[in-house]
Amino acid sequence: MWRCFCHIPIISFAMLKLTNRLKQVADFVEPCDCMADIGTDHAYLPAWLILQGVVKRAIASDIHPLPLQNAQKTIGRYGLQDKIALRLSDGLTEFSPRDGVQTFVFAGMGGELIADMLSSTPWLCTPQTDLVLQPMTHFEDVRRALGKFGFTIVSEAAAEEGKRLYLVIRAKYSGEVCDFPEWFCYAGLLAKSEAQTDRMLLQKILARLQKKADALRGVEAIESARLSALIKEIQNESC
Ligand SMILES: C[S@@+](CC[C@H](N)C(=O)[O-])C[C@H]1O[C@@H](n2cnc3c(N)ncnc32)[C@H](O)[C@@H]1O
Repeated sequence: MWRCFCHIPIISFAMLKLTNRLKQVADFVEPCDCMADIGTDHAYLPAWLILQGVVKRAIASDIHPLPLQNAQKTIGRYGLQDKIALRLSDGLTEFSPRDGVQTFVFAGMGGELIADMLSSTPWLCTPQTDLVLQPMTHFEDVRRALGKFGFTIVSEAAAEEGKRLYLVIRAKYSGEVCDFPEWFCYAGLLAKSEAQTDRMLLQKILARLQKKADALRGVEAIESARLSALIKEIQNESC
């Protein structure tokens, strides 16, 4: 079999292709020695990052044994046994600073769960930590938690896959604890972006808020008015 200079079979290298969503997650991972993929399932992301030379080693972690069996198959298929370690862990409970992880990825999970996992791991708050987050829901909880724990949101991007749009956030620890204004918790950097997919995702977020405000009108008038004011604020802040 043909081999490239780093002893990874070329045929395998060509076969692993990420979906748009995971590709956007991968694009936000900066080159580093070690990354951890929390809630990894098939471990496609860490495998791709290693095959592309973005990271040298990875820890692929999941709360359930079955996804780790999926991950094991991917690791075997691409010959990455000495580069990717598997770990059964609920969030970061089985991790510590001794693992030497520079970038933690949390992708494909609910925003509330991601925010909870960040909140219960105070040792993450060091300048060595980068986060790449792809919440499926409740983006506002994730941004709120980042501000509260001193992370600065460096970039955001929407990824389009089929009929769905996904948000990906990159954050670095800065130590600047910040109570983000409510409009920012909901819209984040999307508000100032001119990229078409980012604008489309922002419109979806606004439509969701509008639907909620309409449903509450006449039932919870104060909450409905609060949401209407929030929508106006996001519209004013966006370019
Ligand atoms: C939808 S999959 C996402 C897989 C992959 N990260 C992706 O984005 O394609 C969600 C994975 O998160 C795992 N998961 C759910 N709760 C978790 C937790 N508290 N800690 C670690 N993994 C968790 C699930 O077992 C599942 O494998």
